[in-house]
Amino acid sequence: MRIMRLKRLFVALLFVATVSATAVAGELPRIVSSDGRHALLVDGKPYLILGAQVNNSSAWPDMLPEVWPAIADMHANTVAVPIAWEQIEPKEGQFDFGFLDTLVAQAREHEVRLVLLWFATWKNNGPSYAPGWVKLDDARFPRMRTRDGKVLNSLSPHAAATLAADRKAFTQLMKHLRGIDGERHTVILVQVENETGTYGTDRDHSPAADALFSGPVPAELLRATRKPAGTWRTLFGSDADEIFQAWSVAHFVGEVAAAGKVVYPLPMYANCALRDPFTPGKPGSYSSGGPTDNVLDVWKAAAPALDVLAPDIYLPEYAKYTAVLERYARADNPLFVAETSSEAGYARYLFAALGRHAIGFSPFGIDYTGYSNYPLGARAIDAKSLEPFAAHYRLLAPMSGEIAQAAYAGKLWGAAEPQDTHEQTLDLGDWQVRVSYGHDPFGSAPAKGNAALDGGVLIAQLGANEYLVTGRNVRVDFIAGKSRKDARFLLDRVEEGRYDAGRWIFKRLWNGDQTDWGLNFSTLPQILKLRLATY
Ligand code: DGJ
Repeated sequence: MRIMRLKRLFVALLFVATVSATAVAGELPRIVSSDGRHALLVDGKPYLILGAQVNNSSAWPDMLPEVWPAIADMHANTVAVPIAWEQIEPKEGQFDFGFLDTLVAQAREHEVRLVLLWFATWKNNGPSYAPGWVKLDDARFPRMRTRDGKVLNSLSPHAAATLAADRKAFTQLMKHLRGIDGERHTVILVQVENETGTYGTDRDHSPAADALFSGPVPAELLRATRKPAGTWRTLFGSDADEIFQAWSVAHFVGEVAAAGKVVYPLPMYANCALRDPFTPGKPGSYSSGGPTDNVLDVWKAAAPALDVLAPDIYLPEYAKYTAVLERYARADNPLFVAETSSEAGYARYLFAALGRHAIGFSPFGIDYTGYSNYPLGARAIDAKSLEPFAAHYRLLAPMSGEIAQAAYAGKLWGAAEPQDTHEQTLDLGDWQVRVSYGHDPFGSAPAKGNAALDGGVLIAQLGANEYLVTGRNVRVDFIAGKSRKDARFLLDRVEEGRYDAGRWIFKRLWNGDQTDWGLNFSTLPQILKLRLATY
């Protein structure tokens, strides 16, 4: 017992020592992993992306004045912005980084970090963001074919010329970025391509693809899947076409990422157009070959240069949303919600993502350019529609470093309100927490759920029996943990306060009515620091 405790203490001290030893401003952003958990370190410290992604056509200097006010209203600390291949290399070999220079300068003025989105060979499976000299030259940059020979508007991952051209442009981009941002690190993360994979076919059936498909499965994939040597069909049976496609696309994306990292090794990721987590349908009805949940192992083996495979979640149902979070939060993959809907009901899922130790969350289409991707997102993007997200970001921003650190240490729990039940239990080890939604603040009448489905809770452990709790439209009751079922316990002290630059600022104690009926969070931005005790 004692040895175990000492061991735990040692591990905790080691964690503190490692993170503070590396807390050096100027250090390159990177992802660290330990015990199956992950952190994105920015300036050496765990960083939480409270993100916002702009609309696809907002990445132009003249559009930025319509971006920043929305980012300010959202209280995002990080903005994801496309960098299009057609924009930086309109003529082959001639590069123009004017927009990137403007973007980085303005992001610094607005005190936000950036995620760059490399829209190149694939943007939602098509080549629309490739320059004309690429997308109009089918002979040099061939497209994929269906099984019956139909040409699709999606570039083949098997064309060496396409890979070489994309890789060259991306490398130039990363080189330029290193030149303007290698010291400041305004850009902290890079997405390579956008929603890869192909609709309308399980795989590329071009002659080049067919030749590879009848050949041997590459050694890296054999190692990862622990299979003996063989062909795609013999080893993977009816899944072979999709696995081959995933391998091919991932390998291409991984090569582009790896080349970019050689010149400037920022963390990189690929995002995913998801398949339905419960009723996926056939490959091709969803984007086949992208990093969907069934081929994450294939992507990991094919593209080791990618640090993260990130879901774009546009699934309003609680069960589906949380299933996706579960599937992408893995010991070998940090959870990052690269895109999600701007519709109000999605705001609460920030708590669910953080409960699974997400490194970030980033609703899509956030700017005041007058466009909204309704009905996928909110009907209109304005201060009012952004408010459900802004409320959470305002609440969490002052303690975002503490949250990221707690996630990395495995000391963070969170939940979002489900549709069909109004109660959940979180297991904190020493304690359990009953979370319920839609209570009046006084009394023990049963939970009836919130009409707006906007409840959520976040709990971080600060020390032995010390917790930080916040939430929205939720009642939180601490109860004894499984290991101490018989213990009588009380809330020894409930402080309300806030964080300011890493320091806890006390405001008042909660007691009496404010604690007799659980800890009731409304829409007010309240943060509590609890000390629990037994008697
Ligand atoms: C997901 C894509 O990644 C985004 O760029 C955008 O097209 C949305 N879908 C739809 O608005």
